[in-house]
Amino acid sequence: MIDPMERRSGPREPQRARQRPTQRRLRARRERATVLLAKLLSAAACFAIGSAQAASVQDASADGFPAWAFPGKPATPDKVAAGGTQSVPGSRVRLRDAQIHDISTPPDWFPQEHPPMPAPVGATGATGRWACAYCHLPGGEGRPENASLAGLPAAYIRAQVEAFAHGERHGARPDWVPGTLMTRVARDADDSDIARAAEYFSRLRFATHVRVVESDTVPAHAAAAYVYAPVAGSPVALGARIIEMPVDLERFELRDPHSRFVAYVPRGSVARGRKLAQDGAAPCASCHGAGLRGGEGSVAPPLAGRAPTYLFRQLFGFGAGTRTSAAAQPMRALVANFSEADRIALAAYAASLAP
Ligand code: HEC
Ligand code: HEC
Repeated sequence: MIDPMERRSGPREPQRARQRPTQRRLRARRERATVLLAKLLSAAACFAIGSAQAASVQDASADGFPAWAFPGKPATPDKVAAGGTQSVPGSRVRLRDAQIHDISTPPDWFPQEHPPMPAPVGATGATGRWACAYCHLPGGEGRPENASLAGLPAAYIRAQVEAFAHGERHGARPDWVPGTLMTRVARDADDSDIARAAEYFSRLRFATHVRVVESDTVPAHAAAAYVYAPVAGSPVALGARIIEMPVDLERFELRDPHSRFVAYVPRGSVARGRKLAQDGAAPCASCHGAGLRGGEGSVAPPLAGRAPTYLFRQLFGFGAGTRTSAAAQPMRALVANFSEADRIALAAYAASLAP
């Protein structure tokens, strides 16, 4: 069975010229962001003095991307289809292999746990066209190689999909497959698809699925389908990295939304991240809300309890210029002050908070 993540992308659709109602809202956000940016830039000068502790960048690939944050997908022998049906713990649903990997009507193991999914979340009705839930899962839990969408503000979701479609946002490493697929999905989606999906995901309650563990070592592991998975062998030094792994790779591969993850982070990261988040001229909570939970009145999305490798990639991406919309400017100014070790600590801290 061919893994759909490996399917070749079709020819890229030409970008449609579209004037959308969201543009007005984006303009308002842009104005707000400009004011915040001005404040930040004046703060940045003070920050710069304090950021002399350069990170010892470990495991950087030759092209400057921290390789550990972008695990690949090794060629594995095609799984021999079992022929029968499969399920996941606690679910009454039984599905065949082809149904589990149907990108246009993805598996829904727990239909009672979320409202009915609108198109294009649950089914796109077109073979070969990705449904949001294939990657982000029906309950919006997401997976470390993509993003959790549950509980993000609808306007933020719409703005991000627009940004992907219009080239203002790419995956933090533009050639990393998961992000290139998101770009393709965004280009194929029309306004009403985006609006329905945004409404749907914004109403779901987000629960964390990751446990952050501070450690000097990490169990032996290897890249598996854009995340890491434990393998036989002795623990290895963690160094300055975050290694996030599903507790059970098989359930992860079955796209079980109850899958849990462990993220190994360097010792002391959470306290260091808390200090960085709270000190300084622009504490994270001033925009991301108390406890980084977003919510009413916050200008930025919630971060608490979300996958730390996703959060790290975003901090890296703001710095590398892969998120360039007007709304992203405050973050771009801010991350310039943070070393890679700081970004690891901030991601670890945010992920450790209760959503
Ligand atoms: C093939 C897998 C895939 C599919 C299908 C997919 N996405 Fe994504 N999505 C991703 C990945 C990967 C990312 C993270 C990209 C990055 O690292 O910046 C992402 C990120 C996002 C984000 C940004 C979240 C944030 O916190 O900023 C939004 C919003 C989003 N997707 C919405 C959607 C919607 C709506 C759909 C359906 C129309 C969809 N996605 C379908 C893979 C997918
Ligand atoms: C001045 C306001 C402001 C401050 C202060 C701020 N942020 Fe942000 N942050 C934003 C905005 C706005 C966005 C959304 C950007 C966009 O729309 O592309 C964002 C996005 C992010 C994202 C990506 C979220 C996602 O779902 O993709 C991360 C991670 C993040 N911020 C971390 C931090 C951390 C850590 C701090 C503190 C060190 C911080 N931010 C401080 C405004 C801020």
